[in-house]
Amino acid sequence: MNKITVIGAGNVGATAAQLIAAKELANQVVLVDILEGIPQGKGLDMYESQPVHGADSPVIGTNSYDETASSDLILITAGIPRKPGMSRDDLMATNAKIVQSVTKEAVAKSPKAILIVVSNPLDVMTYVALKASGFERHRVMGMAGVLDSARFRTFVSMELGVSVEDITAFVLGGHGDSMVPLPRYSTVAGIPLPDLMDQATIDRLVKRTRDGGIEIVNFLKTGSAYYAPAAASVQMIEAIAKNKKRILPCAVMLEGEYGINGTVVGVPIKLGAKGMEEIIQIKLSADEQAALNKSAADVKATMDKVVF
Ligand code: NAI
Ligand code: 2OP
Repeated sequence: MNKITVIGAGNVGATAAQLIAAKELANQVVLVDILEGIPQGKGLDMYESQPVHGADSPVIGTNSYDETASSDLILITAGIPRKPGMSRDDLMATNAKIVQSVTKEAVAKSPKAILIVVSNPLDVMTYVALKASGFERHRVMGMAGVLDSARFRTFVSMELGVSVEDITAFVLGGHGDSMVPLPRYSTVAGIPLPDLMDQATIDRLVKRTRDGGIEIVNFLKTGSAYYAPAAASVQMIEAIAKNKKRILPCAVMLEGEYGINGTVVGVPIKLGAKGMEEIIQIKLSADEQAALNKSAADVKATMDKVVF
């Protein structure tokens, strides 16, 4: 890719920008924030780490969108994170305004870009960016499923004492309390999870995955997780930058797939150079479909509260 812009030079944005630059996923990385000096300072610091990484992706920090012009991909992390006692939906009103305005400013300079949204509440903010950009749905996606799956994989690895590399996990639905981890599609070296652990253990790991975000918030107190979220965002970006056609769970606008219409939720998609290249529809059991429907209904209830 020629240029990747990261909006929001906070914990997630700065960590993601550093990974993007170190992996040389673009010829140039632009870091934007409203705080004066922060993106400039963090950007220059990252630029100065490039000789050590042996990578030639200059990082430019700025408060203006001029430098973002003609970006191929824009990662939106601007907004406020959770503090203890707050749900992701508590962030809705503030972050909807922020995501709306940064999306409009960014797409005015980069009308052909692919957008990946991270700001919370994730599924609703992806919808806000989709509306504010006016882009087709295959160019606007939200990151949550990769993170939720990574958490589930970590907890399975801790439980069984096996490498995280051999574990695949599938989490569908919204990034919230009603997310839908699918144990029978989660495997260790191809062996389905229900063949390796009892239902009570699976239920415990599923609950820890659902509560994964708040577990970190309760430790940090002043903000939310960012190492795993940044790594998960960069995995999506790498799939697009390298046209890898990876199948990853991402939040996208559904138009009838899984029997859901007009709601953004996490489903498995094929990610390549064009963004979302296909929605993979897997056959769900009645219980799994009901859980996905409930998750989508929860997202829709918050989507309906957004003021444009
Ligand atoms: P942070 O507070 O460290 O960084 C947010 C940055 O956004 C700040 O530097 C702030 O100045 C900037 N910002 C605010 N308004 C802006 C605007 N109008 N234009 C440009 N920049 C602006 O927060 P953190 O930890 O980086 O989280 C960012 C967002 O991502 C939060 O909403 C958080 O809840 C969400 N998140 C979502 C995850 C997911 O799985 N989808 C995982 C982790 C975080
Ligand atoms: C998380 O799951 C805050 O949504 C973020 O860590």
